[in-house]
Amino acid sequence: MENNRGSWNSNIGFLLAAIGSAVGLGNIWGFPYKMGKSGGFTFLLVYIFLAVFVGLIIMASELALGRKTRKAPIAAYKAVSSKYSWLGWFAVLSPFLIMTFYSVLGGYCIYYIIINLMGLFGGMPDGSSFGAMLTSIPASLGVLLGFMLICFIIVAGGVSGGIEKFNKIGMPALFVMLLVIIVRALTLPNAVEGLKFMFVPGYAVRGGFIEEAPSLITVLGTAGGQMFFSLSLAMGAMITYGSYLSKEENLVKNSGIIVFADTLVALLAGIAVIPAAVANGINNGIPVANIKLNGPGLLFSTLQDVFHNMGTIGGIFGVIFYLLVLIAAISSAISLMEVLAAHFIDKAAEQGKTLDRKKVVLIITAVITVIGALVAADGLGSNHITPAELFKLKVNTWNDCWLDFFDCWSEGIMMPLGAMLMALMIGGEIGPKVMLDEIHNGEHSPFFSKFYRFCVIYVVPAVMCLVLAGQLTDFFGNQVVSYIISAVCFIIFTYHTLIPDWKKLGQDGNE
Ligand code: TRP
Repeated sequence: MENNRGSWNSNIGFLLAAIGSAVGLGNIWGFPYKMGKSGGFTFLLVYIFLAVFVGLIIMASELALGRKTRKAPIAAYKAVSSKYSWLGWFAVLSPFLIMTFYSVLGGYCIYYIIINLMGLFGGMPDGSSFGAMLTSIPASLGVLLGFMLICFIIVAGGVSGGIEKFNKIGMPALFVMLLVIIVRALTLPNAVEGLKFMFVPGYAVRGGFIEEAPSLITVLGTAGGQMFFSLSLAMGAMITYGSYLSKEENLVKNSGIIVFADTLVALLAGIAVIPAAVANGINNGIPVANIKLNGPGLLFSTLQDVFHNMGTIGGIFGVIFYLLVLIAAISSAISLMEVLAAHFIDKAAEQGKTLDRKKVVLIITAVITVIGALVAADGLGSNHITPAELFKLKVNTWNDCWLDFFDCWSEGIMMPLGAMLMALMIGGEIGPKVMLDEIHNGEHSPFFSKFYRFCVIYVVPAVMCLVLAGQLTDFFGNQVVSYIISAVCFIIFTYHTLIPDWKKLGQDGNE
């Protein structure tokens, strides 16, 4: 069966593809703007804590689950668990939901490359291009189609022939381009104010960027959601990529490298984006409190203003910047599409059929494009077809535009819930030992084993409950209800899984 599933050509190819999946809009857009919103340095600390104690653990678990079963998520969960076999559905549904808006954002990058290229010949576009693009439905649909076409070609090319090949060139290129942008950003006068915002504790408030630091619990929710999204976790992507990985490879090391690289790129993106936005604001006499760091506008409006103010040369930096964001978006989108493709290909193989990869990917591309077209036409809520307007609802964060609607289900609910349940499944039902055996592949490292057990049983479920509560509050606005829902989820699932298996767990821990 392995032969028609495909596999990675080399471990470095796998690593670059996994890093490509992780490094995406989440790093270059989400990380800086969530850091901007959540008060700089504290966010960074919480983020790093979560990446090590939760991200690394789930990363290793997902890769192990994929490699152990050699299956796409639905079949993989079925193979190891009787209680949580349905969890795989989350891991297929969420990538699909994410792709409906990821594809639109990817398209926006193409739009910005085009306008910056045109700017080279005079009339550099400024931040107002964002609004113009959002309200131009034909332009939004055109670039969406372009983005999906690129993704189709790569994913149809196969695991090693398409995905691995793209990332082998794309990831190093992205890194170099990011460095170029950082040098330009940090040499702008007043860029140091942006660096202080990021790295000096308390400076976000003292420097006048935000009025009041958000509560730790809000920061935890935001950072947790961001960390999961950024590392491509709890969505089947790493299970799928792990399923193509050779048994020889060391999963602890690989997971560590992926988490490290993803965090590094997020930080570098922050260092490129935040100082540029802050410096440009200060240099143009905008009071720091009014510099827009916190929202979707950061990437497509604030930064375009920065390039605009550099004059024609800004067009070159604009092209480099949006090209690097486009590569990041493609390398992530193809991982989301691969989860879906792998599912259908494996499912057919189970019934003894061989599906044509190109046909499967074409259908997936078409369905995503159709729903993506709704998100594109909505223009982040600019064009009066938001869920709230269509269904005559009171406006809330989950229904203020179609992007938020799909994001709420995937990133807001399924991702934290999925991760929590995965930890309960490993900690309670199947036992950490099964996972550790696959992770280590014979050679146990006593330190990592202890760390893994502790985190998967105690830290991950607890943190995920808080993250779930934070996400629910973010989308639905009612803190008390969110906490109650999260607590109830936790209690029900703990009762059903952890308690009956407590004995087994104890034995497992003693071995
Ligand atoms: N990690 C990507 C980003 O940071 C997004 C992404 C790609 C993703 N594949 C995923 C998120 C799978 C969750 C699951 O932009």
